[in-house]
Amino acid sequence: MKRASINKAAVIVGASSGIGREVAKLLIADGWRLGIAARREEPLLELKAQAASGSVEVMCLDVTKPDAGERLQSLIERLGGIDLYFHASGIGKQNRVLEEDIELQTLETNALGFTRMLGVAYRYFAEKGRGHIAAITSIAGTKGLGPAPAYSATKALQATYMQALEQQAHQRNLNICFTDIRPGFVDTALLNDSFRYPMLMSPEKVAKDIVRSIYLRRHIRVIDCRYRILTFFWRLVPNWIWRRMRL
Ligand SMILES: NC(=O)c1ccc[n+]([C@@H]2O[C@H](COP(=O)([O-])OP(=O)(O)OC[C@H]3O[C@@H](n4cnc5c(N)ncnc54)[C@H](OP(=O)(O)O)[C@@H]3O)[C@@H](O)[C@H]2O)c1
Repeated sequence: MKRASINKAAVIVGASSGIGREVAKLLIADGWRLGIAARREEPLLELKAQAASGSVEVMCLDVTKPDAGERLQSLIERLGGIDLYFHASGIGKQNRVLEEDIELQTLETNALGFTRMLGVAYRYFAEKGRGHIAAITSIAGTKGLGPAPAYSATKALQATYMQALEQQAHQRNLNICFTDIRPGFVDTALLNDSFRYPMLMSPEKVAKDIVRSIYLRRHIRVIDCRYRILTFFWRLVPNWIWRRMRL
């Protein structure tokens, strides 16, 4: 497989743990210069310490805060520009009794924060003339899931938003490529509850698939093949059956 040429730069928001951190490690190993961002500084500094000197810049930001866009812009400037924006930041919890806080925090991070950060990246690449935006959405966005209403709704929003931006970029003749990554269950802190998740994948394996999908400039990538089959059949389930299913 063709690897991206060295001397490319990327920003990863959500690089302090889980899938984003594993993708960051792979891009560093491939010679990318990286801007890594999240709320927690310590794990970002740990990652920076493992990379070649001068190849990684760190920025603390919270995507739900109004200054997050400016912080992203300043990180892009510190790198001298970027070729790839990768959005890995997100939260998600099961919420079977519909606690208000969980629903609203999920919307703030996965809808508002996502829209804010992708907007900065999109406008930056529009002005630059080219670029690549990749984001982890989820298979949870392909259907409304009763156990996690805000999570599945915000993941649907993310996927639809990327599809809309892709069409807008095409209409405006902007050379911006989009990759929507949709994993099934991944063994990260996000699933840190008592529920036993089936078909669990390691973040390392998922990160390899993501990097390959970015290099191949895929539009949508469901990870892995078991989840591609599952989501194919989900789509065929009529609503009158779906609303009766126990997940
Ligand atoms: N794990 C799964 O089964 C699974 C499946 C499908 C899709 N996904 C998606 O994959 C993405 C990564 O999740 P993960 O599984 O790798 O979980 P994770 O280990 O909890 O990683 C989440 C990342 O998002 C960052 N983040 C959360 N809230 C943030 C905020 N307000 N501002 C900035 N950064 C924030 C976290 O950093 P800080 O806490 O340091 O801010 C962390 O780096 C999420 O969008 C998730 O929905 C996960």
